[in-house]
Amino acid sequence: MTTDDRFNPASAPSTLDEIRATVKARYGATARRVADSAATASCCGPAEGSSGCCGGTSESWDPITADLYDAGEMAGIPAEALLASLGCGSPTALAELREGETVLDLGSGGGIDVLLSARRVGPTGKAYGLDMTDEMLALALDNKARAGATNVEFLKGHIEAIPLPSNTVDVIISNCVINLSGDKRQVMREAFRVLAPGGRFAVSDVIVREGLPDVIKENMSLWTGCVSGALEESEFLALLTEAGFENPSIEPTRIYDRADASALLKGTGLDDSLADEIAGRVMSGFVRATKPGGTVRPTTPPSARELVALGATEGARSSCGCDDDCCR
Ligand SMILES: C[S@@+](CC[C@H](N)C(=O)[O-])C[C@H]1O[C@@H](n2cnc3c(N)ncnc32)[C@H](O)[C@@H]1O
Repeated sequence: MTTDDRFNPASAPSTLDEIRATVKARYGATARRVADSAATASCCGPAEGSSGCCGGTSESWDPITADLYDAGEMAGIPAEALLASLGCGSPTALAELREGETVLDLGSGGGIDVLLSARRVGPTGKAYGLDMTDEMLALALDNKARAGATNVEFLKGHIEAIPLPSNTVDVIISNCVINLSGDKRQVMREAFRVLAPGGRFAVSDVIVREGLPDVIKENMSLWTGCVSGALEESEFLALLTEAGFENPSIEPTRIYDRADASALLKGTGLDDSLADEIAGRVMSGFVRATKPGGTVRPTTPPSARELVALGATEGARSSCGCDDDCCR
């Protein structure tokens, strides 16, 4: 993510639909830019000390997305997937993922964490990505094809209404997405519903350590840039507990200092002096929680027919025919 992608400042979004529309427009534009730069660039390996992007020179460094994946982790993952990375952590590096498990990535974007998960769970496991933005789903499908991944499926839908059956997922990951939702309580409820008993919530997100000034919370550029909508630590833990999760915890992975805060404010129309109010109060964190219940059992992924019935289609695919296994 670059600060240049952010919209001009506007008042805070109010309804869930308005928030989704604004977020979708912003990430649709980002996906198109990434697709364009991937098509023209030939230097898409992660440059040391950079955000991994090799696009236009107008891009500015972003403290949230910079330097999240190490080279070893990225071996065998298409460079284009890293180019499309917009997260704030590396959930697959911190989550425990086992052979044969089913993983779901909420807000999968260009698909980097889905591809990394797919490698970890192996051919007997399955990795789903869920995203609402068509352009992101298109990027993700291209990256899936480049990676030659066979245990990966990208679903279109909202993280507030996950198009998967209850009790079918072993691990939920997500990377810098829950902060963007206009109904975080519903996201936690849905995560709890689809997880199997004993299933794990293992999510990277931007989190506020102490309250932020209203002028920052109300800035739409900073909302779509993953800051204004971020939950406070205590709110995140309370929502997880309310949804039914056990042992919720948050591990800080990067705390933003004044220079980072100043970079975040660029292009938002807000005065740089506000960086003093953000510094040390906003962090990237790794959130863990468990759905109570017995030991995790092997899950049977839902059939294509079930997915269609639940409203999920893989990327642009919307029909159901015998070739895509609907006839089971
Ligand atoms: C900051 S990007 C992160 C993408 C990806 N997780 C990564 O690390 O590169 C946010 C993504 O979440 C998706 N998104 C945001 N809100 C969503 C929602 N309510 N339902 C589904 N997808 C959503 C956007 O379309 C976008 O692809």
